[in-house]
Amino acid sequence: MTKNEARKIIENRKREMGERLIILGHHYQSDEVIAYADYVGDSLELARKASRVEKADHIVFCGVYFMAESAAILAPGKTVHIPERTAGCPLADMAEPEDVEKAWRVIKRTAKSVIPVTYVNSSARIKAFCGKNGGIVCTSGNAEKIFAWAFDRAEKIFFMPDMNLGRNTANKMGIPEDHVVVWDPAKQQGGVSEQFLAEARVVLWRGWCPVHWPQFTSDDVRSLREKYPGIAVIVHPEADPGTVEEAGMSGSTARILDVVKGMPPGGRLAIGTETNMVRRAARENPSLEIVPLREAYCEDMAKITLQKLAHTLLHLEDGACRVTVEPDVAGDALSALERMLRV
Ligand code: 13P
Ligand code: SF4
Repeated sequence: MTKNEARKIIENRKREMGERLIILGHHYQSDEVIAYADYVGDSLELARKASRVEKADHIVFCGVYFMAESAAILAPGKTVHIPERTAGCPLADMAEPEDVEKAWRVIKRTAKSVIPVTYVNSSARIKAFCGKNGGIVCTSGNAEKIFAWAFDRAEKIFFMPDMNLGRNTANKMGIPEDHVVVWDPAKQQGGVSEQFLAEARVVLWRGWCPVHWPQFTSDDVRSLREKYPGIAVIVHPEADPGTVEEAGMSGSTARILDVVKGMPPGGRLAIGTETNMVRRAARENPSLEIVPLREAYCEDMAKITLQKLAHTLLHLEDGACRVTVEPDVAGDALSALERMLRV
């Protein structure tokens, strides 16, 4: 199928389906896919949108699998589809439920009270683990609020799977570095002594997003500032704390775009996140000089193409691209997601 054939199919199907179909798109999608999204957002906005869909029976999610899975959990009466089910997230895959359960048993033993918090970039089973254990989901857009919620209820947070988002959030909340430890699932007892675990306020799972770490570095920020004197820099909090500190600003994809919107004409901004989004922001804001901190593409997000979107729209009724979650997993995962949406 050529791109033009795919465009025709998408346009016809959208017309035929009308309000029975909604297409959601994450900011990291390509321009040609975003052109057909009814709603574009960061992970938090898309989760909220999915939970509030009224008229549509079909939600097509242009993003990665955990996002579509969260939409399926949050919109149980709807049919959720993803154009490519192998569009995963290597970060989400770094936390296996069995390893998390093992860590949990040890961490719980060393704490008077502990709440598990999972980044939305995780499988439904990890969200269900949190839901079952009084825990909650967060996104990069609300991590501080969610940490505060958890600290109101427990002395310790067990955060997974992104150690950088966890560390950056702990830093923002003023938690001393020596009260944050990393649990490495590849090591015996996570590679942490019981004493350190007992003293920690935050236990971080050793996971990371390969698009943001170790790709972006504080050296990148320094050399960019030499090239563009006076340039402002913002990075996604999946970058490491050194890079976040050097940049001076960090935030979710939606927050980054808010910063872009707030810039006066002639402003200069370097953005450290996925390049599709950065290039689009540059094109849509010709009065600004927007540059990527460095080129960084998410291969999984890029698996969603026009042709796959067209194929999905042709197969809405037979469910060929449908995303489903086992009911017992979905129930517990929904508790953790709903707790987040209420905070
Ligand atoms: P946002 O929630 O900021 O959109 O980020 C999602 C993501 O996958 C970042 O890599
Ligand atoms: Fe996962 Fe990173 Fe891609 Fe986001 S950018 S979907 S965290 S691999």
